[in-house]
Amino acid sequence: MEKKKIIFATTNEGKMKEIRMILGDLDVELLSLKDAGIQADIEENGTTFEENAMIKAKAICELTGEMVLADDSGLEVDYMDKAPGVYSARFMGEDTPYSVKNKEILDRLKDAVGEERSARFVCVIAAAFPDGKVITTRGTVEGLIGMEEKGTNGFGYDPLLYVPEYGMTTGEMDPELKNKISHRGKALELMKERLGYENISH
Ligand code: IMP
Repeated sequence: MEKKKIIFATTNEGKMKEIRMILGDLDVELLSLKDAGIQADIEENGTTFEENAMIKAKAICELTGEMVLADDSGLEVDYMDKAPGVYSARFMGEDTPYSVKNKEILDRLKDAVGEERSARFVCVIAAAFPDGKVITTRGTVEGLIGMEEKGTNGFGYDPLLYVPEYGMTTGEMDPELKNKISHRGKALELMKERLGYENISH
């Protein structure tokens, strides 16, 4: 019997690799947008991670008639009223280097001390089913914005988020550790559990 298809609404091969690692033991065929031959430019105009993930998953599900997963993620800095949040990629402009974005955040937090520097990475995964049903799961990595950028692993805001439990920023973690504790990893694990309950492979 042909396996059930699930499309993950991303063109990012790095994400696909992580997704395949975590969801690999579900009895389904996992396809990226590229694998599925889909070119779609969907406007992420939601104001929450849940909204944006659902917008993407629903749009591709309606386009293909297949079950679709999509994610949305970002950094919430409590001292900045949870900014950049859903605007993490667009903060100060999409093409602005992260060295500049990170310096701006450090500068805005120059008077913040201790717990005032609390922040987190958030990832929401949405699953859209052809019958119109949508479910979401959320994963976070809690930490503090460090006093300076640290670490050259990872990407984006990784050098900023100090995780007390591990005594380092996510930018200092080796990729294996980061994947194990990451917001995306946690949201994907929860989605895997939910999909198990939904019995999606039948
Ligand atoms: P997207 O969900 O892939 O569009 O990611 C949104 C943005 O959030 C990224 O461009 C980064 O700025 C930020 N972000 C999300 N996850 C991480 C992470 O694990 N490390 C660093 N930055 C992240």
